[in-house]
Formats: sequence, C-alpha cells, structure tokens
Amino acid sequence: MEIIIQPDWELASRLAAQVLAHQIRRKPDSVLGLATGSSPLGVYRELIRMHREEGLDFSQVRTFNLDEYIGLPPEHPSSYHCFMHEHLLDQVNLKPSNIHIPNGMTKDISLLCRHYEESIERAGGLDIQLLGLGTNAHIGFNEPSSSLASRTRIKTLSERTLRDNARFFSDSEEAPRHVITMGIGTILDSRRCLLLAFGSKKAGAVAKMVEGAVTAMVPASALQLHPRVQVILDSPAASLLEHRRYYQWVFDHKPDWQRLE
Ligand code: F6R
Repeated sequence: MEIIIQPDWELASRLAAQVLAHQIRRKPDSVLGLATGSSPLGVYRELIRMHREEGLDFSQVRTFNLDEYIGLPPEHPSSYHCFMHEHLLDQVNLKPSNIHIPNGMTKDISLLCRHYEESIERAGGLDIQLLGLGTNAHIGFNEPSSSLASRTRIKTLSERTLRDNARFFSDSEEAPRHVITMGIGTILDSRRCLLLAFGSKKAGAVAKMVEGAVTAMVPASALQLHPRVQVILDSPAASLLEHRRYYQWVFDHKPDWQRLE
C-alpha cells in the first residue's frame, strides 16, 4: 500500500486525477471503476477540466460504478445514476454504451449482479478502481462483516452509513436501506486501486485500514492484500496514522518516473 499525504483535498484530488488521466492516455480503452459520494468530486472536476482544456479523450473509456441504491429509478435525483451523470459522465465524451451502473429498479437482483460481474470480465477486468472510504471503513457498500471474498450483491446499509449519507436526501425523504454493490473480491480483482479519504472524520477508518489487522470488520483493510493500492489522503485524514512521517518520506523520495505509475 502506498500512502500519499497531501496538504489539502484539492491537491490530493488533482494528483488522483493525474493518475487516472495517465492511465487513459496510456490505454485509451481503459476500464475504470468509479465511486460516488463527496470524495471523488474534486477528481471528477479536474478530469472534466482536462477533457475540455487538454483534450483528455474518454471516447473509448469504459466505466463501471461501484454501487446503486435499490428502489431508486435512474432519473431520481438521489440515485447514483443521476450523481454520476451530473458530476462526470455528461460532461466528457463517454459513449453511453460504455457506461455501467447497476439498475436499482431491477426485478431480479441476483441475475443483475451476475451479469454485472460478467460484463466487467468481458471488458477485460477493471484497470483502476477509484474508491472512497466510509467512516466505518466500508469500501463500495461492503459494510463491516462483509466477506473479503464477496462479489456484486445486495447489501443492507448500516445505521452509521445511513446517517453519513442522509445529507444526500431531502428531509422528507427516506434513504433506501439496501444497495447493490461490487463485492470486496470484485474490488480486489481490479489491477489497481486508488482510494481517497479526506477530513478528520475519516482519520480513524484510515488508521485501521492502513495500520490495523486485516479483518472483515474493517472492510477496507482487505486492500492490504492487493498488490497495487494508492491511498491518497489530505492531512486531517492522515492525522491518526502512527507512521505518517515514514509514508511522507517514502513519497518524497519516489523517483520522478514512478510518480504516476
Ligand atoms: C460510493 C461508495 C462509498 C463511498 C463512501 C465515502 O459509491 O461506494 O463507499 O465512497 O461512503 O463517501 P464520501 O466520499 O461521501 O465520504
């Protein structure tokens, strides 16, 4: 695991966007795993800027989102379909047929989950999976106690996640309690993972994920088993890491040629 600590979320987001852009330029038909929530917003903004100002070309890129709420139609403003179209997909030249987000209105959830896994496989597997981190250390919506070998399936959100995500719903609206999410095994199969965590409320989860034991009670700790993970943090999110000076030292001495690799 490479731990990269940046002074603030904007610099951290810019760095993550550069890694994704480098991947797209090197392999124009890259398969990207995408996340929703607050953490990737700066990354998406920077990718849109690169598309507009630097000609970053998404025409062959394929995308697979991590998750979607069950019971919300794609056009619902709080659906992850809507979120993705607003914050990235409609603002770059992605082909609609190359965009994959689980359909939260599907009748046969297990069939959809099987098809989702098959589509990822048919696309050649995920080149990079972008991840946020829950305050309870979930990745995707793999809540504590999720199997570290899990595949795309239905999950029930924890009370903590429902509280954390209440900000995305209006007061009168009740957030769905169930989601379709890629599993931890699905995420671990991607060739590379890029996890973003910003703000002091993520500091406890970050410390457990990086320096704690691998356990299903800390789903993100499964990333310790992945050969190629970059964790990009702002300073507050890194504040509880015991070895933060060591991570900083390693990053500062990284050879230039390796910076975006
Ligand atoms: C979203 C997702 C979640 C979020 C996590 C952090 O697609 O899979 O794991 O990444 O809940 O959310 P934010 O970034 O809003 O703090």
